[in-house]
Amino acid sequence: MAQIIGAVATSHVPSIGNAMEKGLQKDPYWKPFFDAFDPVHEWLEKKKPDAAVVIYNDHGLNFFLDKMPTFAIGAAEQYENADEGWGLKVAPPYKGDSKLSWHLIDEVIGADFDLVTCQEMLVDHAFVVPMKLMWPEGGPAAIPAVPVTINSIQHPLPSGRRCHALGKAIGDAIESYPEDMRIVVIATGGLSHQLDGQRAGFINKEFDVFCMDKIVNDVDAITALSNHDIIEKAGSQGVELMCWLAMRGAMNGRVSAAHSNYHIPVSNTGGAVMVFDHEPKPVLKAA
Ligand code: DHB
Ligand code: FE
Repeated sequence: MAQIIGAVATSHVPSIGNAMEKGLQKDPYWKPFFDAFDPVHEWLEKKKPDAAVVIYNDHGLNFFLDKMPTFAIGAAEQYENADEGWGLKVAPPYKGDSKLSWHLIDEVIGADFDLVTCQEMLVDHAFVVPMKLMWPEGGPAAIPAVPVTINSIQHPLPSGRRCHALGKAIGDAIESYPEDMRIVVIATGGLSHQLDGQRAGFINKEFDVFCMDKIVNDVDAITALSNHDIIEKAGSQGVELMCWLAMRGAMNGRVSAAHSNYHIPVSNTGGAVMVFDHEPKPVLKAA
């Protein structure tokens, strides 16, 4: 059976991609951010996942305001990137795993989450930048991935509680996959940031630190917040936190934080990365 070996959650700012292209990882501005990925690489090297389920939010590359699924999942054998502005080079395609995708689709729709299924799906910086942070050689060098998107740009948005429950359904689906595979769950987005309007540039370190603490052992303290609360505390794009909540749901039982780093600013955001070890659910034996 497949097992979830843990999770990584990270911010996904386009300028991180530009910094990697220009080799600025040791630049004083970027060093505190990129150095925090050394332990992530060590962890991935040790855990050796075979595939990733990547939970993120599209910013208008694959879905636009005319058609905006609340939740969508890729079912392709590969995922292309495309020019979305930001001056980012178009990344080579990432490998998919359509068999794993269709298993997740069957199980998660079976659990009453009406996903949009995408046999073609362009992946934007929210997928490509984190994948490159984890597998710096790029597209073909990364493990196969199943992309899952959560709408965080077109209101009304799903609640944190709903995203956490979606994640739980994804976690159950992964653990019922009959192949012996080691799966890592990756969440991208956040933390606090607002890119537009009067509060453009808004970052709330106190709230980010609160979320990084509570996501480990008291996620209910975050899912109790309304989207209005989250936008007030984390900025209008801080709702990308939803992807972290879905990741935490997928972890189901207990987790521990194996690594954690927070650095401000990274472009306009609180740059965060966390790695989670997963203690699988105990196997219940018949009495
Ligand atoms: C920025 C862009 C993002 O998509 C994000 O999630 C955080 C920051 C930015 O351009 O600063
Ligand atoms: Fe974003």
